Amino acid sequence: MADVTRTPEPFPAEVRAEFRHRPDVVFLNHGSFGSVPRCVQAAQDAWRERLEADPIELIGRRITPLLGEVKRELAAFLGGPPEALGFVTNATEGVNAVLRSLPLQPGDELLCTDHVYNAVLQAMRHRAAETGAKVVVVPVTVPAAGHDRMLAQMLAGVTPRTRLAVIDHVTSVTGMRFPLEAMAKALPSTVTLLADGAHAPGGMPLDLQAIGAPFYAANLHKWVMAPRGSAFLRVGPAERAGIHPCVISRNLGQGFEPEFDWQGTRDFSAWLAVPAALGFLRQLGFERVLRHNHALACWAHRLLVEGLGVEPVSPLDGCCLTSMATVQVPEPLRRFGSVEALQADLRAVDGIEVPVMAWNDRWWFRVSAAVHNLPEHYERLLQAMQRRLRG
Ligand SMILES: Cc1ncc(COP(=O)(O)O)c(C=O)c1O
Repeated sequence: MADVTRTPEPFPAEVRAEFRHRPDVVFLNHGSFGSVPRCVQAAQDAWRERLEADPIELIGRRITPLLGEVKRELAAFLGGPPEALGFVTNATEGVNAVLRSLPLQPGDELLCTDHVYNAVLQAMRHRAAETGAKVVVVPVTVPAAGHDRMLAQMLAGVTPRTRLAVIDHVTSVTGMRFPLEAMAKALPSTVTLLADGAHAPGGMPLDLQAIGAPFYAANLHKWVMAPRGSAFLRVGPAERAGIHPCVISRNLGQGFEPEFDWQGTRDFSAWLAVPAALGFLRQLGFERVLRHNHALACWAHRLLVEGLGVEPVSPLDGCCLTSMATVQVPEPLRRFGSVEALQADLRAVDGIEVPVMAWNDRWWFRVSAAVHNLPEHYERLLQAMQRRLRG
């Protein structure tokens, strides 16, 4: 467990120089859209050059083996076989592919928690409206008391009609790691688990084979720091035959891998640059990256909670955190009128980019801890909040 009283050793300046953030902005929102290091951008640019130089050869004849090589590297990183992986452009697309593929009957229940990402909830509602199924949103209370209670609360929503459980591995607004492994084991065999791992790869230790969720949709453009548009859907062996991508194209009926490999002409460079992002993580030392980001998130969590005198959303020991931490906005700051207004004020006055979000009748802000962040970034945010609290 991280020592929440100490800041980790920052990454050296040459590593932080790989990121091109504006020098006048304190960037505390790696979690939303990631941040692409120069070396990974260069690898994507090189792929674009190659594709441009020889499109028929590389796209027309060789795209399947090229994507296959990427899948092999990615599978070694994530755990499990490469043939379980289908490339998508973002986690939302992966979730939609599963929702659209599963046969649903009127009265079937689709379960999620009240921490669910809103885009995912919309996709669930849309599919439910099409099929007569029902979305059941089960509350998982905060402050979270730890994983055992969270698991019990999620399972309380399961009924004999539950067909699918969509569980976030790491939640968006509340920035918490959910007990996905335990959920995968505890669910009855009549319920299919779709894990939303948008924030998980590169953000926490992960072995998808060990988790064993039949469906796992995730982004590589957040914490793996691959180019935007690189994401995957991992599907278990028993489910692969029934799952189709959102874009039905010429390989329909040829199986999971051919269908996902070809969804029409696309810019393949983001997926092809994934090995460069994995190489960057290896070069930094992946264990070190995880340790650094988690320790920084835990330290910042405590700094901000104590400095603002608010109740923490999860235990201060960091047991529910990965590389992000969410903190309640003190009530007096609701005088800004909207979360957007407070977020814009932090950016305009203090040059701080941090997401402020409304959830469950309260306001929250979420800090990310990435290899380009420094402890002083969170201290500046605390000072900016405290100044606003003074009036
Ligand atoms: C928990 C969660 N799920 C899904 C998504 C969707 O990711 P994307 O917009 O890349 O599809 C996000 C985005 O931040 C998220 O936080």
